[in-house]
Amino acid sequence: MKFFVDTAEIDQIRELNDLGMVDGVTTNPSLIKKSGRDIIEVTKEICAMVSGPVSAEVTSTDADTMIAEGRKLVEIAPNIAVKVPLTWDGLKACKTLSSEGHMVNVTLCFSANQALLAAKAGASFISPFIGRLDDINLDGLELIENIRTIYDNYGFDTEILAASVRTTNHVSECALIGADVVTAPPAVIKSLANHPLTDKGLAAFMADIADTGQKIL
Ligand code: E4P
Repeated sequence: MKFFVDTAEIDQIRELNDLGMVDGVTTNPSLIKKSGRDIIEVTKEICAMVSGPVSAEVTSTDADTMIAEGRKLVEIAPNIAVKVPLTWDGLKACKTLSSEGHMVNVTLCFSANQALLAAKAGASFISPFIGRLDDINLDGLELIENIRTIYDNYGFDTEILAASVRTTNHVSECALIGADVVTAPPAVIKSLANHPLTDKGLAAFMADIADTGQKIL
């Protein structure tokens, strides 16, 4: 399963990228706002650092303007995936941009039927939002499972990019279900390394070696 990092913070992307943990990046208008950066400039910087797909989201809601924005975004770098919302106009933009050979990430997906439409419109990625479904007491992971089944039933090659990932459990469950990609905030990716028994075991090892008075360096 590929890891995308869900942020527009350059330093945080760099830290994870240097460790080989970044297969791609996703941004959205809220993450751009949080970064305080210009969308074109920061996207250019991210694309120069990361070789995998970098999702940059359109900022309009009608198909024609989304298509024009998408054509501008793909000029930034060859690894841009144009992110469009899962609306009827977004699907039109997806069809046009994907037919032109561009990667398209269809975002704000909350149902299996929406995912089916995105695949038929030629999306490279579908982004079902797990956390936001969990927030309203629906089951985000069940949606990932259902989309996996549907895409496998019909051989769609649209990649399932599990988004709105909030917990380490979301990551491991997505891997078990067979999501192609998980995009998660840097803090969630880093917390995958944590386990209380690792901390406990390490403390005991450090105490025991200290008791012997030995040092390697
Ligand atoms: C995905 O592409 C989105 O940027 C993101 O995962 C949304 O997550 P949120 O629901 O935590 O804002």
